[in-house]
Amino acid sequence: MQSNVYIGIDLGTSSVKLLAVRTDGSIAAAETRSYAVSYPAPGYSEQAPEDWWTAVCEGLKALTAKLDQPVGGVAVGGQMHGLVVLDETDAVIRPCILWNDGRTAEETAWLNTEVGRETLVRETGNIAFAGFTAPKLLWMKKHEPENFARIRKIMLPKDYITYRLSGAFVTEYSDAAGTLLLNVKEKRWSDVMCSLCGVDADRLPALRESADAVGAVTPEAAAATGLPAGVPVAAGAGDNAAAAVGTGTVHGGDCNLSIGTSGTLFIAADSYPAGIDPAVHTFCHANGAFHVMGCILSAASCNSWFAGEVLRETDFAAMQAKIPADLPGNNDVYFLPYLTGERSPINDTAARGTFIGLRPDTGREHMLLAVMEGVAFAIRDTLETVRNAGLSVAKTSVTGGGARSGLWLQIFADVLNMPLEKPATEEGPGYGAAILAMTAAGVFGSVNAGADAFRQVRETVYPDPARAALYEARYRAFCRIYPALKPVFAQLYG
Ligand code: XUL
Repeated sequence: MQSNVYIGIDLGTSSVKLLAVRTDGSIAAAETRSYAVSYPAPGYSEQAPEDWWTAVCEGLKALTAKLDQPVGGVAVGGQMHGLVVLDETDAVIRPCILWNDGRTAEETAWLNTEVGRETLVRETGNIAFAGFTAPKLLWMKKHEPENFARIRKIMLPKDYITYRLSGAFVTEYSDAAGTLLLNVKEKRWSDVMCSLCGVDADRLPALRESADAVGAVTPEAAAATGLPAGVPVAAGAGDNAAAAVGTGTVHGGDCNLSIGTSGTLFIAADSYPAGIDPAVHTFCHANGAFHVMGCILSAASCNSWFAGEVLRETDFAAMQAKIPADLPGNNDVYFLPYLTGERSPINDTAARGTFIGLRPDTGREHMLLAVMEGVAFAIRDTLETVRNAGLSVAKTSVTGGGARSGLWLQIFADVLNMPLEKPATEEGPGYGAAILAMTAAGVFGSVNAGADAFRQVRETVYPDPARAALYEARYRAFCRIYPALKPVFAQLYG
């Protein structure tokens, strides 16, 4: 008998969210467990894979205890690009270097200039960005040669969880695309990239589609998680592709904006989108097709940094409520949200967060609003790049923690000047991962069928024409700030 509850796990940067989803799309139970990011040096960002596993085990135990029926399957979605390396005894060699780590400026520059963007685009469909996995391997080879020599398995973060659950050493195309080791168009590891990084292809996981069943929960994992042994495990997806499945962003031209720790604009493509400006990424989708995506490294994290770390507020909503109603569109304070350098479209690890335009009468509300606007302007930069590449985007769904703020959603709608659709279920990547687990089990005939079945819009936020016009002028001003500061960033932080 087919079970009607499936688990989707979202291995995020600040926490793991575990979701039990019924086959009618409703949520049976949810659990979250947090863990820390360590910043061992400026620009570095790491996590211990064992911390993820502990959090997943605790979360799964609590989640399964809440369920009144057996689980039909599980799949993991998660933070992309991280480098997890295991030795011959399967011990983790060093902490995972995360997607928002900026230590690889030199390796990234070497790839883009010495190897050359043309070769990279031919081999992978993309150019190098500091957060991608290949530059991290080059960094490790240079700075930690003994560790590098011990590598037997290379994994992405969510694949480590799949491995601990099932023993299957696999990845899938949506996450593999972000390594810069995958030929995205041909869906195979690139021998050229592997040899440039000094990696034997047998150190890399087997490549599968996201909704492929790749194994089953092992007896050891069963004891650790509370899941029965034998529960099928599907390959899962990178968090953005998983979130896109969860919002029904699966047909060519569909768009999803995710306002999480990072901010991404994700546009589905039915076939390989050749000739895209590599300032944005060309990756595989979790439905077997492709997508184009721009990623800003700090999105909702800018808000939590400013409201939490700087202003020491805990109630972000109350803080936002103090912003005067006529200030959006009329704020002359600007903020560059490059707290950890920036990925799309500027690809600059030396860029930094910056306020411009402070005066004696500038209050915390002006600065908080500038932070929220700066994030929206940075996403607009990506939208412009995508549009310049010839893709048309008329509206978008929106997910992520930042989408809980009505004010921020209105700012995004006005700055992007397009409607934003809030899905009925705002569960992000875990929801999409559960759809993948269901598809692997045959509940749906395809990922698209599952995504279409669950797609439901709760609310549409439309741009306000007057405010959109004000923001158009503000965006043009915002566009002048980074180019003027770029040489200063390079000198101070390069
Ligand atoms: C996408 C990216 C981020 C992480 C965050 O390219 O780096 O969205 O996946 O989890």
